[in-house]
Amino acid sequence: MSRIDDIVEHVRQTLAAGWPLRDLDFDRLYPESVRSLAADWTPVEACRVVSRFLAGGCDEPLVLDVGSGSGKFCLIGSLMTGASFRGVEQHSFLVNAAVEVARRLGANETSFVVGDAFDLNWRQFTALYLFEPLKESVDRQRALESAANQLENMPLQTRVATCGDLGMKFPKGYEPIGEETIGQSSLRFWLRVATW
Ligand SMILES: C[S@@+](CC[C@H](N)C(=O)[O-])C[C@H]1O[C@@H](n2cnc3c(N)ncnc32)[C@H](O)[C@@H]1O
Repeated sequence: MSRIDDIVEHVRQTLAAGWPLRDLDFDRLYPESVRSLAADWTPVEACRVVSRFLAGGCDEPLVLDVGSGSGKFCLIGSLMTGASFRGVEQHSFLVNAAVEVARRLGANETSFVVGDAFDLNWRQFTALYLFEPLKESVDRQRALESAANQLENMPLQTRVATCGDLGMKFPKGYEPIGEETIGQSSLRFWLRVATW
């Protein structure tokens, strides 16, 4: 399989059918310069598990990927669940790549913005995904404080999934409701059960 249209069709059909998809096949949707960063992205199988959890529990899920990189998690999550996913990412070249792949795949329930994830108001979302965004934040101390404030400000029933080490203690009011390791991805799932 080499032509980009063939790859797009294969990825779309495989995700829609809920069949297993190799990371290599999804990652081929990106230009080489972007694909070289693929080790930092959530693997397809982990995307499937996390997105099912985050898109559940409410009628109109709107999931935020905090530090969305190439958009891989949002794209796979949306195509697999039909829910709306938004990614915010500090590097514009990654957002441009995400928008282009979304267009090719017809992932119309995804959107991507360039910016500092900690400047957004997370309350507009029903669920959050955090894959080590604090690690690469330019101002780490500010990011830590902001992440804690944002998580504390979320309403009851907010679903949160983390991948890897978040780099901070999870605020009170969240119940850990599960964890799973898929390949190299250590996933944790949380539910907001109380506010103070
Ligand atoms: C480990 S990658 C995860 C990418 C994507 N969420 C995925 O699962 O495939 C973390 C991303 O967070 C981005 N990031 C780190 N700090 C950020 C910030 N303060 N605002 C926006 N993006 C940030 C990085 O540029 C990087 O692309």
